Amino acid sequence: MSVSADDRNPLTRLTLDQLRRRTSVKWRLYPPDVLPLWVAEQDVPLAPPVADALRRAVELGDTGYSFGTAYAEALGGFAAQRWGWADFPVGRSTLVPDVMMGVVEVLRLVTGPGDAVVVCPPVYPPFYAFVTHADRRVLEAPLGSDRRLDLAALDDAFRRARTVGDRPAFLLCNPHNPTGVVHRGDELAAVAELAARHGVRVVSDEIHAPLVLAGARFTPYLTVPGADDAFALVSASKAWNLAGLKAALAVAGPAAAADLARMPEEVSHGPSHLGVLAHTAAFRDGGPWLDLLLDGLDANRALLGSLLAEHLPDVSWHPPEGTYLAWLDCTRLGVPTEAPGDGPGVASDLAGPARMFLDDARVALSSGHVFGAGGAGFVRLNFATSPAVLTEAVTRMGRASVDRSPGRRGEA
Ligand SMILES: Cc1ncc(COP(=O)(O)O)c(C=O)c1O
Repeated sequence: MSVSADDRNPLTRLTLDQLRRRTSVKWRLYPPDVLPLWVAEQDVPLAPPVADALRRAVELGDTGYSFGTAYAEALGGFAAQRWGWADFPVGRSTLVPDVMMGVVEVLRLVTGPGDAVVVCPPVYPPFYAFVTHADRRVLEAPLGSDRRLDLAALDDAFRRARTVGDRPAFLLCNPHNPTGVVHRGDELAAVAELAARHGVRVVSDEIHAPLVLAGARFTPYLTVPGADDAFALVSASKAWNLAGLKAALAVAGPAAAADLARMPEEVSHGPSHLGVLAHTAAFRDGGPWLDLLLDGLDANRALLGSLLAEHLPDVSWHPPEGTYLAWLDCTRLGVPTEAPGDGPGVASDLAGPARMFLDDARVALSSGHVFGAGGAGFVRLNFATSPAVLTEAVTRMGRASVDRSPGRRGEA
């Protein structure tokens, strides 16, 4: 009997009972009656080539220190095939523990203490925490009302950044978490032009790059004109669900090679050898599995659209071009949004609609207010789950919002 496409969809392989046996934060932060659609973990089994690589290592006891450039070579092959990046610079790539630690280490190379780091909110909350913890100052250049990069806001933020300190940087999220916008080549080239004009170094977080859905195309920042002195941080972590297997790559543009050479040797001690093996296998041999996943995510994106229309007509959204995250505007639900003073924070902080959906629907989402300016009143929903869980979650959310609607509250 032939295997149908649906049988091969990684998002339908695991039952809720199996998932609840997981011990990662997605499954353990909330009680078992909660459907967790918050943190960016996927409800998929490991891709077979990744599981095989790990199994081989465990059988051999190959659990020592990492060596060599296999991870960068695997990423180079993937980048050439998927993104048309023919001359991926293996020689200007270095292992870092994970993407966020890589961001911090690269910022230490290109900025000094107290310097400004520009971010485009709403954006992945650790961009605030890690930058601040590294003794740099976050400056916001909010996304435009079309959810895309706002070049005028960036121009202004870059100008302000120069008054804060001598060596500012721009921490780009490409593709963008939480909106799922995939920046176009022309937008990125305009960023590079602005950055060069203001003397701002660009650090591009490209962790979601393999997760670009049908209809969009990913452009690696380092391939756009004028990006020679930039850095990119890449890993297989989001696409192949490997967050627990630490290993990422920092990649330098040609004019950043001297900066990369100053990366302290001890940074390469952070990634785990098992992580390196897993990420290498993902980029080298995990393409067919990724394609099945992307089909499943594309179908879930469409399903989410119909579920929202049916159960939450007052919630608006723009289907993401990439990632498995949906950024839902809940400002018309009539739920009081966050108290003044709330701001970017810990990913699991809850307020406003996310608090309501947890309390009343038993669905855990990420609360918009922790994503910085423009996030209050939104929630981020992770749709890397089965259609059944997605359907149940949005149905429950719909019921909770009806129970909370002003008319119904008046009846109570
Ligand atoms: C944009 C972005 N960067 C970085 C990370 C975290 O990556 P890592 O665990 O490799 O630090 C995430 C996780 O969701 C993310 O969305």
